[in-house]
Amino acid sequence: MERQRKGVSVVLIPSPLQGHIAPILGLADILYSNGFSIIIGHTLFNSPNPSAYPHFSFLPFSDQLTESEASTSDPLHLTNLINIRCALPLTRSLSQLLSDPSLDPIVCFISDAALHFTRSVCDSLRLPRLVLRTGGASSFLVFSLFPLLRQRGYLPIQECRGEEAVVELPPLKVKDLPRMESKDPEALYEFACRMSDELKSSSGVIWNTFEELEISALERLRHELGIPSYPIGPFHKHPTLASHSSSALRSPDESCIPWLDTREPNSVLYVSLGSIAAVSEREVVEMAWGLANSRQPFLWVLRPRSESEWLQPLPEGFMESVGGRGHVVRWAPQTQVLSHPAVGAFWTHNGWNSTLESICEGVPMICMPCFADQKVNAKYVSDVWKVGVQLPGEVERGEVEKAIARIMVEDEGKFTRERALELKHKASLCLQQHGSSRRSLDALISHILSYNN
Ligand code: UDX
Repeated sequence: MERQRKGVSVVLIPSPLQGHIAPILGLADILYSNGFSIIIGHTLFNSPNPSAYPHFSFLPFSDQLTESEASTSDPLHLTNLINIRCALPLTRSLSQLLSDPSLDPIVCFISDAALHFTRSVCDSLRLPRLVLRTGGASSFLVFSLFPLLRQRGYLPIQECRGEEAVVELPPLKVKDLPRMESKDPEALYEFACRMSDELKSSSGVIWNTFEELEISALERLRHELGIPSYPIGPFHKHPTLASHSSSALRSPDESCIPWLDTREPNSVLYVSLGSIAAVSEREVVEMAWGLANSRQPFLWVLRPRSESEWLQPLPEGFMESVGGRGHVVRWAPQTQVLSHPAVGAFWTHNGWNSTLESICEGVPMICMPCFADQKVNAKYVSDVWKVGVQLPGEVERGEVEKAIARIMVEDEGKFTRERALELKHKASLCLQQHGSSRRSLDALISHILSYNN
């Protein structure tokens, strides 16, 4: 369903991490199918694949990263380097583009919220700047309140106060606040403050969420930020998507789907911790024996620790002990997996994309949040939307086995699944004509077009 072309272009810039590239390309696709020409500005590191998006133009710019810096092992450090180094290369590339008469005029720029350096670039070129927050609104609210949380003594996090309620942000406890291992202990605090300041100074914020899911955070943020707010998600389910191209940086193992085809409905636990979170050898061992002892079928994405490895090593005797009941891959076609009738639950790290993808398919979750926004997302999954359970503390095989039984076998699992299906229904309603996300998208389109007057 392609709309009439509008004769104007929008430039979008993703942060070069899988969990950020997918939503911004999804947004670009939605805008394309609503008549805008699309230019994707991108770093050379983790650049998107232009051949998957022949309807877009691509504008590479130098990220100035050395070979050792071009790595996602410390995503915060990587993002900080890009914020420091890319202003000049992007300004140069954009100014050339702005003076190219063969292109539809560029009316606005949409930046990933994490790339706060784009503010100075857009200011210098007098280009209106909108921001896409690829994560949830509830977690962004927490980041935006970091100065207050520090002032009230919740930050830096003290492990001994983990069970204390954060009264300003119910139902969060101190242990649910975002944290991140990085070279610099202050890095997350400084990044969060800068990201939210530069977002406040933008012309508007686009969210990959929907009103009915995060109404209270969205309302509070509208008040706090004082800029137009457009919750138009979930992007990957949008009926106006121009294509369903894959933005994956890795090739999925297609054996997953025929393997799932052989399993009973709702019988398989899908296990994946996203594209960045690293699990230690000890954690792999506990996860593996928890899965083996649960006696449930499972599909496990176990990323290799380095390109030279095929898979992260599994404990000896594990594959023999699970036999055909387990299937282990390096990378799965996740959205297809989650929509497969055989999948009964998702053991996830609660990256925002994984959380939203699970919600959209009505799949209950076992939550094992690792860093950044994931702890906040997990708390909402377990305590607010009540569509999952959290694994307590350090991963341990007995706890894994218990959590799997709760979700896949016991009555609690049935109730959780019912609630997950209700939420799936809401996610689909918001995208129907006159649904909240469709109305928000119409408002966003009018906003962008107003720059062409
Ligand atoms: C990162 C951060 O970890 C997360 O906290 C933040 O919310 C977004 O950025 P990531 O760890 O990659 O993201 O997790 P997530 O947001 O869940 O994104 C992973 C994406 O990769 C999902 O869209 C998922 O469908 C896809 N994926 C993952 C696959 O397609 N196959 C896989 O095997 C695993």
